[in-house]
Amino acid sequence: MGKSKVYIASAGLTKVGDHWSKSILDLSVEAARGAIKGAPKVKPEHIFVGNMFSAVGSSQEHLGAMVASALGLAGTPAFKVESACSSGGSAVNLATSLIRSGAIESALVVGVEKMRDLEPEETSKALAMAESADYTQFVGATFAALNGLLARYYMEHLGVSRDELSSIPVLDHKNAVTAEHAQFRKAISPEVVSRSSMVADPLRLFDCAPVGDGAAAVLLTGERRAAGSKRRMAEVLASRVATAEFSVYERKDMLEFGATKSAFGKAMSDAGLSPKKVSLAEVHDAFSVVGALSLEAMGFSKRGMGARDAKEGKYDQGSSMPINTFGGLKARGHPVGATGVYQVVEAFMQLTGQAGLNQVEGVEYAVTQNVGGVDTTSAIQVLGRAS
Ligand code: COA
Repeated sequence: MGKSKVYIASAGLTKVGDHWSKSILDLSVEAARGAIKGAPKVKPEHIFVGNMFSAVGSSQEHLGAMVASALGLAGTPAFKVESACSSGGSAVNLATSLIRSGAIESALVVGVEKMRDLEPEETSKALAMAESADYTQFVGATFAALNGLLARYYMEHLGVSRDELSSIPVLDHKNAVTAEHAQFRKAISPEVVSRSSMVADPLRLFDCAPVGDGAAAVLLTGERRAAGSKRRMAEVLASRVATAEFSVYERKDMLEFGATKSAFGKAMSDAGLSPKKVSLAEVHDAFSVVGALSLEAMGFSKRGMGARDAKEGKYDQGSSMPINTFGGLKARGHPVGATGVYQVVEAFMQLTGQAGLNQVEGVEYAVTQNVGGVDTTSAIQVLGRAS
């Protein structure tokens, strides 16, 4: 581990959903100002903007300098970070690593995505760019299609039922009812999932994260600037990113999320924690099968048991390790490049007692898992209460 401890001093976010009247810059600035207002003494030395497809979605690149300038912070080194749907988690990892190394003392991380301005087929095409242009895109496979194949294999190979798989979106939608920033605030039953329209057999509408706009931001600081003011801060105990073979079909075992397994193992080791100590996890459930395989890769559930454990209530609010406490990707929403930052903001809210009606009591350690591609990149953050 490096020299400095790293703290989240404050956070900001926008609601996820349709923001027809706001540009990608408007959303970024709104979330960033929320974070800056929460800790006015922390001046960001660097700015990182996690984003996946601003060029396609908003005809806009160069987000780092653009956000810095709009915030009145021209002069600050600023970068866009892209690793598909894990762009936000990767941006947090880069900022954390620089602060921990002692190279900088503070950073603003913004995650932003504007997806709704595109036609549905354009969105699918933009998302598919996270996969190989020569092979996967070439045959017209969307992410829903790839995850549909994975879900079929998972269910048939490991004997997982439709109702078991539905437990993950049911849990997410229940938690989102009281989450003000969530895209869908409606509880659903397993029957609603199994009767919803087919997207990519066997995945149905309610197995899939929606398309939405949104931005989230965190202000990170090293221990020198945090001294004496840690009351409402959380500590980033560890942050790791790992990658796997680029396409899912290149892997020996398609049902093992190797990037998540690797990043999670290293992060827990860096933090000096056993997985049993984790009291909350924000899990990347872009599709219900992805949620199940993610829980298995982190060892919270045994192989083939992720969805079954969810059905048994192992991850409900009130359990020893609730997941997706504001609705996860399925119900809070998945503005792709912003998602990893939303997860960190939500874990921060839980650790500092600012989660309102969604507050989980007694949270000591929280994990966020943010994936790009079909677990091709995985960004894991381990957060704890500031001490
Ligand atoms: N879950 C629940 N309801 C959804 C939904 C979802 N994922 N997506 C849309 N809806 C609802 C809308 O609110 C709307 O409801 P209304 O008629 O009551 O207003 C209705 O379904 C139709 O919405 P629409 O936007 O036309 O849906 P769509 O058919 O164009 O898109 C999906 C549905 C599932 C194809 C789209 O959400 C999708 O592509 N999701 C996956 C995104 C993705 O791949 N992300 C990256 C993962 S790696």
